[in-house]
Amino acid sequence: MTNIIEIWLENRRDGMTIGIGEAEPRISFVADAVASAFDAEFTADDGTVQVERILSTQNVPWPFAPLAAREGGGLRIRAVDSGVWSEPLRIEAGIADDWRVDFVSPSVVAGRDAPRPAYLLRAVVAEGALPEGIVRARIHSTAHGVYELEVNGERIGDDVLAPGWTSYSHRIRYQTHDVTAALRGGENVVGAWLADGWYRGHIGFDGGVWDIYGSDVALLAQLEVTTTDGMIHHVPLAWTTAPSPIIEVGLYEGESFDARLEQDGWSAPGFDASRWTPAAILPRADFPAAIEPPTALPVQATETLRPASVTRQPSGRIRLDFGQNISGVLRIRLRADAGHTVTLHHAEVIENGELGIRPLRAATSVDTYTAAGTGEEIYRPRFTIHGFQYAELENWPGELRDGDVEAVVIHTGMRRTAWFESSNEGLDKLHSNVVWSMRDNFVDLPTDCPQRDERVGWTGDIQVFAPTALRLFAAHGTLTGWLRDLAFEQADQGHVPNFVPWVECGFPNFPTAAWGDAAVIVPWEMYRNDGDLRILADQFASMRAWVDLVDDLTGHTGLWNTGFQLGDWLDPTAPPEDPGKSHTDKYLVATAYHVRTARIVADSAALLGEDADAARYRAIADRAARAFQDEFLSDSGRVVSDTPTSIAVALVFELFENEDQVLRAGARLQELVGAGGFHISTGFVGTPIICDALVRAGSMDYAYHLLLQDELPSWLYPVSMGATTIWERWDSMLPDGSINPGDMTSFNHYALGAVADFLHRAVAGLAADAPGWERIRFEPRPGGGLERASARYDSVRGTASISWQREGERLSIELEVPAASTGILVLPGSAEQIPVGPGRHSFATTVRSVDDDPDRPFFGWRRPEPVLENEGAA
Ligand code: BGC
Repeated sequence: MTNIIEIWLENRRDGMTIGIGEAEPRISFVADAVASAFDAEFTADDGTVQVERILSTQNVPWPFAPLAAREGGGLRIRAVDSGVWSEPLRIEAGIADDWRVDFVSPSVVAGRDAPRPAYLLRAVVAEGALPEGIVRARIHSTAHGVYELEVNGERIGDDVLAPGWTSYSHRIRYQTHDVTAALRGGENVVGAWLADGWYRGHIGFDGGVWDIYGSDVALLAQLEVTTTDGMIHHVPLAWTTAPSPIIEVGLYEGESFDARLEQDGWSAPGFDASRWTPAAILPRADFPAAIEPPTALPVQATETLRPASVTRQPSGRIRLDFGQNISGVLRIRLRADAGHTVTLHHAEVIENGELGIRPLRAATSVDTYTAAGTGEEIYRPRFTIHGFQYAELENWPGELRDGDVEAVVIHTGMRRTAWFESSNEGLDKLHSNVVWSMRDNFVDLPTDCPQRDERVGWTGDIQVFAPTALRLFAAHGTLTGWLRDLAFEQADQGHVPNFVPWVECGFPNFPTAAWGDAAVIVPWEMYRNDGDLRILADQFASMRAWVDLVDDLTGHTGLWNTGFQLGDWLDPTAPPEDPGKSHTDKYLVATAYHVRTARIVADSAALLGEDADAARYRAIADRAARAFQDEFLSDSGRVVSDTPTSIAVALVFELFENEDQVLRAGARLQELVGAGGFHISTGFVGTPIICDALVRAGSMDYAYHLLLQDELPSWLYPVSMGATTIWERWDSMLPDGSINPGDMTSFNHYALGAVADFLHRAVAGLAADAPGWERIRFEPRPGGGLERASARYDSVRGTASISWQREGERLSIELEVPAASTGILVLPGSAEQIPVGPGRHSFATTVRSVDDDPDRPFFGWRRPEPVLENEGAA
């Protein structure tokens, strides 16, 4: 019996199927067994049923009539040889730009440069204005600013900081909310909270900017109801506005809420709104930005944490340690007299016994709550977000009871897809820290950090982190949307700016290697992960434009040796105040990336059937490779700069001319890494690939040594210092507990955590061997004193997993191959590829420890004798 395990649309495995933009969304699913064919059934809301035979499981073109705007229904799938239908998946098209309303605004002129208030908006649907026989009701809405909806006194939806941040001058996303259950007989009321957010608030660093997208904040909300006869009725909404109890709010600054200003029942029927004023109407046509459906789930509250410790400070403040660095806010519950104000301070670390707030720079991250004095009051800030592990409550009334304060974790709703575990606690904690830094930094877009006055979509950070991001969570939808913005900003700026959306706040606005290369590498990694060419097709013009630009910058020589570069950013030899001053030649990095991305564009062109482009970019790549070799390599295989990063890029990006050079460079890399005492000496560019380079050099042992080092600088040094996220700098906190003196120090940056991908691929030994995990390579590499390691990945073809365990010289391995994939197993020390089919398998082999071998002073294994225990057993 074949069961359908999971169905999704358009590579969006997070469950985004309502309010979608595609009239013909492609369907993908996972079945627990192979079948010759499947039936797909779509039962539309009007009762019509379409059944079509489909022959594949991945990105199947929509087999039914295209969805009309707003059309919805249930999609079920079954294998033809089995009678079991899957659970239906609700699918519903968005409104396809059929807007019948205008923006409404409580404030069209931005105030002074300070946190500004939030506003309330209210619209009454008079008794009798709704038709009889409503079967469905939807509000399609978005805002200039950030907003939350209420209907009849109840919060609608679970989005936080909607509509999120896009390149607002080009596109803004709308949300579709189901309000069927919220409507009632008689009068109905729709309400909205609205604040500046990214649109009109303070964003960017070095002082930042205000009002960059407009001087208004405004809401666009369209209420539609469908009646039993299938008719769709547009319900007119006339909006009034009033000040809200949020008297000041900024994403960076925090929120101040005065509960005495709350107007009870303001979004419910029967409320006296006679003192509210009509909202200004701003014609939609005055704003050229496209209003688009989202491609991913919104930002949501995903978890709450109780404090791990609570201590009263000499200052009288109550300090809470949540035991985990997060992005989010506090939720407080208190009883206090009217007018009593509690202040909530946030910080990532403690320094000298105090909250370490210097790294926050201008993001003061302080919320205040002034009580109404009405008994038990509960408050959670709406329109701000902080990066913190510690909080201090100032002026808390009385004792703190259990449950009075919780930390609410807030980030994009994403499905977790990968897990790693080993017998080494340090590695496991490192992995957990990467997972958390990804959660904390996927706040609608992939950001650099969640705490200071930055939180922007730095291209270089996600460029290096993309393989890890795509492994850990189903991030395809988020990255698809962000890449659309990247292409818009690229067109505006004439190059890929260093962060997207771009904010002109003084940072050098020049094309920069490894950062701009995100335009090419991020879609490529998405393709490799999911096996779907669509993202390459969608981004192809952007990918090409980037490589063309760099080719121009090199004067068509292929050698990129001019202009601003960030280089191997933050290698540990760079001084705190000059993080770009790495010991690796910046132009070596730039030229290496040029080769890499020109090759990817050539490969993408070939996959897309663009043969002329394939030849053109292959020629650009070959020229750049020659230029790299002429400028940076010696015939014998030495590399200019002679640093681990320079050798690693040459090895991993395959820039050598012959295997002799590779051998020589590999040996030199080992020499350098060993001479460095297995301390990290790489930055953003070298760190994600240094272990792969060591494997290419033939030494997994060295990779283990580097991975397991815990002295500064190393991956495990922060772990030894109690880190719960990945730090921006190797030494964000110095061994004496003081914060790095540089003015750019975060404790929550995912870039240096890009090594998590290596833990899955090489330590556990679970890697894709073909795009979309159609073929899987299982290659356990026991070493480093590990007794066991395991990894699991819920790929687009189903779950793949590996688990190995070492007892003395015996190595046992358990594998799982999804029904729709094939696999090969490569045993330690052997080049033989043992085919493994779908199902679970166990193997055993012997490995000899060489820990004490004087010629090979590092732990590891050699010469295995594979013993197949039960080949092919499912
Ligand atoms: C960001 C980085 C970014 C870098 C480049 C920093 O301020 O936080 O992660 O990539 O600047 O300049």
